[in-house]
Amino acid sequence: MNIILLGPPGAGKGTQAKLITEKYSIPHISTGDIFRKNISEKTPLGIEAKRYMDDGQLVPDEVTIGIVNDRLSMEDCKNGFLLDGFPRTVNQAEALDLFLSSNDKKIDTALLIDVPKEFILERMTGRRVCSACGASYHIKFNPPKAEGKCDICGSSLVQRKDDTEETVKERLDVYDRQTQPLIQYYKEQNILETVNGTEEINTVFKKVCDVLGAVK
Ligand code: AP5
Ligand code: MG
Ligand code: ZN
Repeated sequence: MNIILLGPPGAGKGTQAKLITEKYSIPHISTGDIFRKNISEKTPLGIEAKRYMDDGQLVPDEVTIGIVNDRLSMEDCKNGFLLDGFPRTVNQAEALDLFLSSNDKKIDTALLIDVPKEFILERMTGRRVCSACGASYHIKFNPPKAEGKCDICGSSLVQRKDDTEETVKERLDVYDRQTQPLIQYYKEQNILETVNGTEEINTVFKKVCDVLGAVK
């Protein structure tokens, strides 16, 4: 099963991706996570990506497309994958289609997690992520068992640098201008599915499973 998760920043893509990839045993490919790992390791890619991410802008397509193609060529993607946060521009979507078709593959479902803007700011400013394993929490909607500590590995939880009010607003603008057109793009391919992402995490996941179960 080859899946794309679409949706604005803070829609819950990462949260649902984790649940989906566990259930369906497919790799979770998040370009944001790949960039953040490179930033923490201070690689040349990380140094370049950071310049854009800190301002809420997109990392250039030339950089991002190559990284995803390399990742999708790996053995663990043979029986399916879930892309979270990619594609994010029409240019990236076209490059992905080209790459997949040249490998006799295609996207089965583009799943839009639909969350209106008024929910987003509270979700982003309340998000905390594990400094070691990257697991994501919310101080109100998905709190860790012990305050400030990761349930999985016990490391301390931190705020993402781009989760400030100002940067979140910029990221929402970037989403409207550059990523929103993908909804139409996948509608035209007849593979768009939409779930309401404003409900509780497990309720959203149930609906996601209903949609994916029908695809499988
Ligand atoms: P990326 O890391 O992909 O960020 P994003 O798209 O802005 O999305 P987020 O990760 O912020 O939100 P999410 O939808 O995953 O929500 P989450 O599950 O965490 O990208 C970061 C940056 O990297 C970009 O700005 C760009 O610079 C660069 N980049 C990445 N990909 C790129 C690409 N393809 N091209 C170019 N540049 C790229 O949930 C958010 C919070 O809400 C959490 O606290 C969670 O616990 C909570 N929550 C989740 N679901 C619910 C619910 N149902 N109810 C209540 N709370 C919930
Ligand atoms: Mg995410
Ligand atoms: Zn952790």
